[in-house]
Amino acid sequence: MTSGDGAGDSMDGREFRRVLGHYPTGVTVVTAACPGGPEGLTIGSFTSVSLDPPLVSFCPGHDSDSWTRMRDVGSFCVNVLADDQADLSSTFASRTGDKFRGVSTRVESTGAPVIEGCFAWIDCRVETVHTAGDHDIVVGRVVALGTAEGVADPGSTTNGPLVFFKGSYGRVAGL
Ligand SMILES: Cc1cc2nc3c(=O)[nH]c(=O)nc-3n(C[C@H](O)[C@H](O)[C@H](O)COP(=O)(O)O)c2cc1C
Repeated sequence: MTSGDGAGDSMDGREFRRVLGHYPTGVTVVTAACPGGPEGLTIGSFTSVSLDPPLVSFCPGHDSDSWTRMRDVGSFCVNVLADDQADLSSTFASRTGDKFRGVSTRVESTGAPVIEGCFAWIDCRVETVHTAGDHDIVVGRVVALGTAEGVADPGSTTNGPLVFFKGSYGRVAGL
């Protein structure tokens, strides 16, 4: 066990990531329609916050170039990736090139890109942004949402959501 029990005590970053990596998460790509073109980044820190009003949140890092450009747009879409979209997750987690090259998208309510083939999407308007250490906590009010079920996509090979656990991608078994 490693502790950081005093004010200003820094914790071993690698140990922090190792232990937090034991918490399995889904994988999302948060997108926005920015003045200079579409932007997006891979986000694992997505969660629901409130039912009434319908609020969700995610935590982008202050060092994210994409979030810096997305921050003042006022709306975003959370694309929950499907288990055949691990490559997309890697693309949107990288800092190289045009992340949207070859990616099919459409728009729903806010104009933010909805990635075709994603497992679910949640379109939001920014409600509040709170600074928390080296990240922000972005709270969004949901204005539209939907899932892949029922969307006829003959080319799709997905069974369920993409999962991230101990630094690796996986899928939910037995679905
Ligand atoms: C599975 C996974 C989950 C991630 N979750 C987050 C997150 O919650 N917050 C964050 O700031 N970065 C997260 N990242 C890293 C960002 O995606 C990455 O730093 C960012 O895309 C870098 O590009 P940018 O500078 O264009 O934003 C995650 C990466 C991966 C692979």
